[in-house]
Amino acid sequence: MTAYSAPGLLLPDDPESSFTRPAGYPVRIGAFAPSRRSPASEPDKGPRYRDPAMHAVIQRAHRIAISDASVLIRGESGTGKEVIARYIHRNSPRSSGPFVAVNCAAIPEQLLESELFGHERGAFSGAITQRIGKLEAAQNGTLLLDEISEMDRKLQAKLLRAIQEREVDRIGGRTAIQLNVRIIATTNRDIELEVKRQTFREDLYFRLNVVSVHIPPLRQRPADIPALAEYFIAKYRNEAGPGPRRLSQAALLALSAHDWPGNVRELENTIHRALVLTTDATIEPGALEVGPPSATDAPGLGEFVCRPLHLIERDAIIAALRRTGGNRTHTASMLGLSIRALRNKIGLYLSQGVDVPPSGGVPGAQ
Ligand SMILES: Nc1ncnc2c1ncn2[C@@H]1O[C@H](COP(=O)(O)OP(=O)(O)OP(=O)(O)O)[C@@H](O)[C@H]1O
Ligand SMILES: [Mg+2]
Repeated sequence: MTAYSAPGLLLPDDPESSFTRPAGYPVRIGAFAPSRRSPASEPDKGPRYRDPAMHAVIQRAHRIAISDASVLIRGESGTGKEVIARYIHRNSPRSSGPFVAVNCAAIPEQLLESELFGHERGAFSGAITQRIGKLEAAQNGTLLLDEISEMDRKLQAKLLRAIQEREVDRIGGRTAIQLNVRIIATTNRDIELEVKRQTFREDLYFRLNVVSVHIPPLRQRPADIPALAEYFIAKYRNEAGPGPRRLSQAALLALSAHDWPGNVRELENTIHRALVLTTDATIEPGALEVGPPSATDAPGLGEFVCRPLHLIERDAIIAALRRTGGNRTHTASMLGLSIRALRNKIGLYLSQGVDVPPSGGVPGAQ
C-alpha cells in the first residue's frame, strides 16, 4: 500500500505510540485542519483513517463538499456519520458559517418542530420568549439532521416545504424568513424500506438524497482499527494518568479479531475504558474486554428458560444497554428497534422501578 495522494494530512509519528506501523501505511486525518498539531492537542478534528475503503469515502466527501447539494450519509451506528458531516462542512465554501446539528431521534416529537423552525413569543402555551430554530441558526452554513428517519411524517412535510421554498416560518410567525442552508442528513436505517412502508416521504427522500455517502462498518475496514486505537490512546492518555500507554501485539490482535458491532464508538469506548481501568504501560488483551458477551451478559439459548416474552425482551434491552454503556442509538441499532421504541420501553421500565443503565458513559467503567 502506498501513501494516499489527497486529501489528507499525515499524522506526525507519535514517539509514545506502540505500533509497528506497516511501512507506507500512513494514518491520515481529514484535510480541513489548517494546523498540523498532534491529535492529542487537537483531539476532535477530522476523521482518522488508514484503510483504503475509508480513503474512498473521504475522497467522495471531499468532492461533495465543494458542491451545495444535499447529502445523505448512511452507515451503521457509530461508524462516523457526524464526523464525515463535519468534514464536508469544513471543506465546503460554507466553512466560515455555522455547523448546526439536530438529533431528530433524541428530541421528543412534540418539541422537534419548535427546535427546527423556532417560534414567536406566545405562539403556544409555554412559548414565553421568541426562539430561533435550528434551520435559521444554520443560516449561511450547514444543518445536520441526524437520524432523519426518526422524524414523523407531518414534520417531514414541513421540512420539505422549507427546503423547497428556501424559507422558514417560525411557529406563530407572520413572515417567512429566507434561508440559505445546506442540509446534510444521516440515517442508520434502511431508508428505502421506510419509504416503501410509507413512514418516510418519498419526495423528501429524493430531496435529501441528491448525493449519498456510505460509511462502511469498522469490521470492513481493518486497517482503520489500529490507526483509530492509536488515535484514541492519544486522545485519552492525559486523563488516564502519566506515562506512555501502548497496546501489546496480542492486544492489537484481539482488537483486529473483534467484529465491532458498535463500530468506531465501541472502539473508542474500549480504549477509553482500558486506559481508565489499567495503570500498566502496556495494555494487554484482558484489559480490553472485547469478544463475545459473557454468559451473564445476555441470556443465550444455552441457559434458555421459558419465561414471559416481555421479560425476555426487557432483559435483552437492559443487557444491550449495559454493553453499549447506555448509548441509546447504538443499543437501538443493535436490537433492530427504532430509537423511539427503545425510549418508550426504557420509560416503561423506569416507571416500574427497573434499574436501567444511564445514557452515555463508558461501558463497564461505572
Ligand atoms: N474516522 C474517525 N476518526 C476519529 N474519530 C472517529 C472517526 N469515526 C468516528 N469517530 C468517533 O467515534 C464516535 C462516533 O462517531 P459519530 O458520532 O460520527 O458516529 P455516527 O455514525 O454519527 O453514530 P450514530 O449512528 O450513533 O449517531 C465519535 O466519538 C467520533 O468522534
Ligand atoms: Mg450520529
